[in-house]
Amino acid sequence: MESNIENAHKGDALKVPNHLAVTMDGNGRWAISHGKLRSHGHKAGTDALRRLVEYSIKYDIKYLTVFSFSSENWSRPKEEVNFILRLMRNYVASDLEKLDDNNVNIKIIGERAGLDKQIIKLIEKAENTTSGNSGLQLIIAFNYGGRGEIARATRNIAKKILDGKLSISDIDENTISDELYLSDVPDPDVVLRTSGEYRFSNFLLWQSAYSELIFIDDYWPDFNEEIFINILKEYAGRERRFGGVEAK
Ligand code: FPP
Repeated sequence: MESNIENAHKGDALKVPNHLAVTMDGNGRWAISHGKLRSHGHKAGTDALRRLVEYSIKYDIKYLTVFSFSSENWSRPKEEVNFILRLMRNYVASDLEKLDDNNVNIKIIGERAGLDKQIIKLIEKAENTTSGNSGLQLIIAFNYGGRGEIARATRNIAKKILDGKLSISDIDENTISDELYLSDVPDPDVVLRTSGEYRFSNFLLWQSAYSELIFIDDYWPDFNEEIFINILKEYAGRERRFGGVEAK
């Protein structure tokens, strides 16, 4: 059944990205603007993520990558870090069954060394439970940083050279892509950042070389279907040339 929002956009040109990547920013400011604690913002941000997953399934997005916790986020006050970690644990624990029922395939990218054992267990459970699913691939970037990812790839490549499995002259862009977490996933078509901040903040640095960047002013917890459709509209109006010239 079509929603009122879909009806309101009937006739609009929409284009669904194959891979959408999102920096879910503005939870803290949303909370402050509502006179609440920052933790409220993260809680509301989790509900907004649930909505994003729902729209991604509905509109048939194949890959959805969300930035849930960066390798730099550990520098936040301990209570806030613990709160976000607890939220993520609860999200996986409470939503895993439903995500699995919806054929969602979950993958978590980021540095696992040094993480709490319980978190690693939950990550593995989420991935193993859903590994056979062929629907939306939900990629959660956790303890992730783009520079760290490239440094990790470089270490792997150096090791292959030392082991005699690769020669320096054979290194090309694919050699590097193959060592990244998302080697089997196409690059994001659209990278969205909410809350009026115009930065990459170390998210998918290599993979977003040719992505369409969309920045919106709304805080992440306000994310809704209207905003989602507006992104599909914005994307439909972008012309991707990958460094070439306009097609005549
Ligand atoms: C950015 O807002 C948001 C985060 C650092 C955390 C994102 C976490 C969630 C959406 C909830 C849990 C995630 C999952 C996967 C269930 P901010 O705190 O930087 O906001 P501010 O810039 O307004 O301070």
